[in-house]
Amino acid sequence: METFRVELGAASHSVTIGEGLLERLGELAAGAGLGGRCAVITDTNVARLFAGDAIGALRAAGFDPLLVEVAPGETSKSIAALESVYDRLIEAGLDRSASVFALGGGVVGDLAGFAAATFLRGVSLVQVPTTLLAQVDSALGGKTAINHRLGKNLIGAIYQPRLIVADVELLRGLPERAFREGLAEVIKYGAIMDAPFIGELERDLEPILARQPALLEAIVNRCLRHKAYVVERDEREAELRTILNFGHTVGHALENSAGYGRYLHGEAIAIGMVAAARLSCHYTGLSHAEAERLRSLIAAAGLPTQMPAGWCTDDFKAALSRDKKRTAGGISFVLLPALGKTATRKLKLDEIVPRLEELVRD
Ligand SMILES: NC(=O)c1ccc[n+]([C@@H]2O[C@H](COP(=O)([O-])OP(=O)(O)OC[C@H]3O[C@@H](n4cnc5c(N)ncnc54)[C@H](O)[C@@H]3O)[C@@H](O)[C@H]2O)c1
Ligand SMILES: [Zn+2]
Repeated sequence: METFRVELGAASHSVTIGEGLLERLGELAAGAGLGGRCAVITDTNVARLFAGDAIGALRAAGFDPLLVEVAPGETSKSIAALESVYDRLIEAGLDRSASVFALGGGVVGDLAGFAAATFLRGVSLVQVPTTLLAQVDSALGGKTAINHRLGKNLIGAIYQPRLIVADVELLRGLPERAFREGLAEVIKYGAIMDAPFIGELERDLEPILARQPALLEAIVNRCLRHKAYVVERDEREAELRTILNFGHTVGHALENSAGYGRYLHGEAIAIGMVAAARLSCHYTGLSHAEAERLRSLIAAAGLPTQMPAGWCTDDFKAALSRDKKRTAGGISFVLLPALGKTATRKLKLDEIVPRLEELVRD
C-alpha cells in the first residue's frame, strides 16, 4: 500500500493506492475525518460488482450509506442525471455534514464530483476510481463536470476530494479495451515528465497487460504522484498543468469528429500522442528514434497509432480550431524536445495538416 498527500493548502488531501482497499474504505474515510450519513454514487455496472462491498465497509466503520445508481456511460454526465442525483440526496434528507463517495470510472467521478461540489454549496467528496483511466488520471486534480448538448465538460467546477482511494484489485475485471485505454494516459506521463518510466513500461508490458497487481499498484502510484506534482503547482491550468494535454489536441479533435463511439478517449489520445511526437521531430528537435520508441510502445499496448483514412474532414479542422487552447497565434500544442521533456508551440492549421497526412493508415 502507498499513501501520499496532495498539497493544496486548505484543500490538501491524501491518496491511498493498494490492493484490497475497498474493504477498508470506511476505515480510510473515517481516518480522513468523515463519518455519518453518506451517498455512494455509482453506475449500474460498477454497482453490480462493488457496491455491496463498499456499502458493507462503510457500515462497518459507522457510516450510514445511501446507494445512488446512474446508467453507465457518458450520457450520465448530463443535467438530467445530475438532477436525478440531487433528487435522491434531497429526498434522503442529507445535510451539510454528509459526504459523497464517487465509486466508478471517470464518468461517475465527474458527475458525483460536480454533485458534491454543488449540493448544499459543497459536501465532502471521496473519489474511489474503478477504471485505470480514473485511477491514473481523472480522480486526482479536482476537475469535475457534466456535458451540455453543445459540448463536453462545459458545466463544472474545480472541487478537491477529501480523500482518494485507488484499489488496483478492482481493475481485474475491467474490459480489455477499457484497460488498454487507460494505458495511453500512463504512457503520457512517461512521455511528458518521466523518460525512465518509458523504459520500465517497455520492459514490463507483458505482466502489466496481465494486470499483475504489484505492478499496477506501482504504476498507479507513479502516475498519481506525477499528476499531484503538476496540480500542486498549477491547480487551475494557468501554465504547467497544460502539459497533461500532450496528445489531447489532435486526440480531442479526432474524438469529436470521427463519429460518436469510434474511439475511446484513450485510443484517440494514443493517436494524438503519435501525431504530437511527429510534430515534435519537426518543431522541437525530438529525434526520430525517440518518436519511434514512443509509437512502438503505444502500439505494443494495443492502441491505435495512425490517423484514420479520411481524417482531414471539415469537422476535424473545425474541432481543432475550436480547441480551448487556441489563440490568435495558432493552436497551442504540447510538444517534446526529448522524451520526458515538454515545450509549447503555437502552430497554424495549414502547417499541421501536411505533417499529419504522413501518419495516415495506408
Ligand atoms: N476530471 C478529469 O480530470 C478527467 C480526466 C480524464 C477523463 N475524464 C472523464 O472521464 C470519463 C471517462 O472515464 P472512464 O474511461 O473511466 O469511463 P467510464 O466511467 O464510462 O467507465 C467505463 C466503463 O467501465 C465500467 N467499469 C468501471 N469500472 C469497472 C470495473 N472495475 N470493472 C468492470 N467495469 C467497470 C463502467 O460501468 C463503464 O461502462 C469521460 O467522461 C472524461 O471526460 C475526466
Ligand atoms: Zn486524457
